[in-house]
Amino acid sequence: MRRLPSRRWGLSTNRWHLSQAPPPPSYVPFKPEDAAHVAWEDIANPEGGADSRAAFVESLRKVGFVFLSLPDSMMGPINSSYEVARQFFAGEAKKHHRMREQRDVGYVNMPHIKEFYQMRYTKSPTEVWPSQPENFKEVALEYYDLMLRITKECFKMMAEGIKVDAEHFVNLLDLEERKEKEVDTFYGSTLFRYFRYKNKPCLPEDEPCKVHTDIGLLTIIPVTTVPQLQMLHPDNFEWIDAEPLSTTKNEVIVFCGEMMERLTMYYYRAVMHRVNPPPVELMGQERYSLVYLCRGRPDAVMDTVKLNSPVLEPITIAEFMRQRYTNKESANGLNTMQVGGVGFPTENLKAF
Ligand SMILES: [Fe+2]
Repeated sequence: MRRLPSRRWGLSTNRWHLSQAPPPPSYVPFKPEDAAHVAWEDIANPEGGADSRAAFVESLRKVGFVFLSLPDSMMGPINSSYEVARQFFAGEAKKHHRMREQRDVGYVNMPHIKEFYQMRYTKSPTEVWPSQPENFKEVALEYYDLMLRITKECFKMMAEGIKVDAEHFVNLLDLEERKEKEVDTFYGSTLFRYFRYKNKPCLPEDEPCKVHTDIGLLTIIPVTTVPQLQMLHPDNFEWIDAEPLSTTKNEVIVFCGEMMERLTMYYYRAVMHRVNPPPVELMGQERYSLVYLCRGRPDAVMDTVKLNSPVLEPITIAEFMRQRYTNKESANGLNTMQVGGVGFPTENLKAF
C-alpha cells in the first residue's frame, strides 16, 4: 500500500515557512564600555553633568546596570559598614538577633554558604539592633541615609530619562514625617542587608545566590573585592561579571527592580542577577557585601497613567508585592510585615 507522505510534507512545509522568516537580529556581544561609569560630582551638579546623567540612563537601559563613583567624602558609611559587618559576623551577638518574623529584621545563617543581617529603617525598639559592635545602629542608619540620598539622585536622572517629574518616584518612598510620628512602631519598607559569603567549597546546588530579579524600585550595591556578582544582559542573555568592570573602589552598582519595571512600562527593566561561587583562586576568601533594596511604601499607588503610559491599571505596592510573591510561589511566609510593615493601617491589606 502506498504510504502518504503527510508527515514528511508537513516537515518540509515547516522548513519552507522558516526559510521565509526574517533573519534573527544579529547578536552584539557585550562590551565593557557599554556599562557607564558616572561620577557623583557630575550628576549631582545642577549646572552641568547632562552628559553624565544621560549616560547613566542609557547604561540602565542598555545593559541593565550602571556604576556610580562616589567621592571619598561619601564613603564613610560604606567603609564603616564593612567594618561593623566584619565585627558582627565574627562575634557572638548574632546568635541573639535571629530573624524576627514579626519585624522581618534580623540575622540569618545559611551553613556553608552565607550569613546576613537584614535591616529596615527604624528608630526603635532597640531590640532589633545588635549590641555588638556598639556602633552597629549608628553606622547602619548612616548607611541607610547615604543610600537614600543616592536613590533620590538616581530617581532624578531616571525621571529625566522619561521626561516626568522625579516626584513620581520619590512619592512612593516612606515619608520623612511618618518616620518622625511613629517612632516606636515604624519600620521602613526598604530593606538593607550586610552579607558575609563564606565561600567554602560547596555542592553545585548550593549557589551563593540563585538567579533572580529584585522586587523593589532600585538596588544599590557597593563593589566588593571578591567579584561574584553577575548580571544578565537584558538583550544578549549574556552573563556579565559586574565587579571586575569597576574602575575605582568607590563605585556602587545601581540597577532596577520589578516595581520600577512595572511603573515605567519596562522602560527601565528589572535585571536578572546572581552571586556565583568565586573564581578558584579566590575560593575561601570571604565576601562582605552591603545590599540596599529600595522599595515603595505599601499604601503608595504605582500609577503608570501619570507617566503617560495608560496601559496598566494603578496598583498599590502592597498588592503588587502580593501578586509577585504569589507568582513566584514564595508566598509562604509572606506576612503583613513584609507587605505592609508594622505601623501601616491594615485596611490597606484588605484587598487580599
Ligand atoms: Fe538581588
